[in-house]
Amino acid sequence: MSESSRIGDLQGKRLLLGVSGSIAAYKAAEITRALRKLGAEVQVITTRDAAQFITKTTLSTLSGHRVLTELTDSGDEDAWTKHITLGHWADLFLIAPATAQTVAKLVHGFADNMLTATALAARCPVLVCPAMDHDMYLHPAVKTNILALQELGYKVLEPGYGELASGLVGIGRLPDVEDILERLAELLPGELRGKHALVTAGPTYEPIDPVRVVSNHSTGTMGFTLAKDLARRGARVTLVTGPTLLKTPDRVHRVDVLTSAEMLEAVLVHQSADFVFMAAAVADYTPAEFHTSKIKKEADQLVLKLRRTTDILAELGKHRQEHQTLVGFAMETENDLTNARRKLVEKTLDWIVLNNLTEDGAGFGTGTNRVTLLGKDGSSYPLSVMPKEEVATALLDRVLADCA
Ligand code: CTP
Repeated sequence: MSESSRIGDLQGKRLLLGVSGSIAAYKAAEITRALRKLGAEVQVITTRDAAQFITKTTLSTLSGHRVLTELTDSGDEDAWTKHITLGHWADLFLIAPATAQTVAKLVHGFADNMLTATALAARCPVLVCPAMDHDMYLHPAVKTNILALQELGYKVLEPGYGELASGLVGIGRLPDVEDILERLAELLPGELRGKHALVTAGPTYEPIDPVRVVSNHSTGTMGFTLAKDLARRGARVTLVTGPTLLKTPDRVHRVDVLTSAEMLEAVLVHQSADFVFMAAAVADYTPAEFHTSKIKKEADQLVLKLRRTTDILAELGKHRQEHQTLVGFAMETENDLTNARRKLVEKTLDWIVLNNLTEDGAGFGTGTNRVTLLGKDGSSYPLSVMPKEEVATALLDRVLADCA
């Protein structure tokens, strides 16, 4: 599972699983089991032919719900409108495997069984996973239908390549269950869909001469973790980062910078972002002059003259936009609450995340952090020591709850 996998987001979701008559139908049992294990509720709908490959008893036992096939199958009073109820009930509709026949029916809007009728009524994203023999899949009629499906708004997961039931080797296999669920989870609407988040991370390098810099111990972990979580929640994320060895999280646009001046420039390009998390440890001072050649070891003492850098966050605060949420970080070693509150006010922030470097489990280079989130309304949320990933989630839950 990739680091930014959203599979866990399927927990508590309502899933329709449509199964049509392909040899791969037996995998519907595995899919149902995996979804239930993740905590999703699953309603299986099979076509008549699917029952040749997998029994309804198996699927109803695994899903915990009676399996439906015909339009009037539910046996409930609302039997004739069950396809509508189901179509509105589901968060996601997965059709796996989808035969050439079912794909064709979907394209032409057939409503001759529970699966196709429910697909017409579905208000949620529908993921179709075609599985069939190589030559059938490559037939222009099927290819045209698959393109048409996509044009109609269905999502399609390409089948895999490998050994097929016919003994042939080619394209047409149903992808692995994990890949199917991964793609499915990506279709869940994220709470931050349509929002832009700007995150800064890492230290800055302020050059003294061609080989030396003024910097700090920041590793960038907090900012990278926030960026990953924001992307998982559906935001478009720009991550402006100083030097770090960390891997860019999936679906995050990374901008590398070295100096605080470069970070300022990169941040200003994205200053209209809906959310700004200024987690970078920006140098407050930079060498007043840059020595173009290496400073040689001559005198016993070397005095470096430093000048103040621009406070990037304070700049953003001065020009803040109404829709924007500005979150700063405060690194303190003494008078932490007073200092953090002062920064919150002076930089016109909505929130400040207080990091007391003297506390156990907090600070640079540790996998954990201990922070207190302070709000502009005077609120204070102290979090216990926890892995940085959990800190990011807890911070975002709080900040986003406030915007809701
Ligand atoms: N910050 C910034 N630009 C700077 C310095 C800091 O944007 N030149 C941001 C940091 O990213 C952080 C917040 O301001 O979100 C507070 O940083 P911190 O180093 O704790 O405080 P400073 O304002 O620099 O004050 P001091 O160093 O005196 O504690």
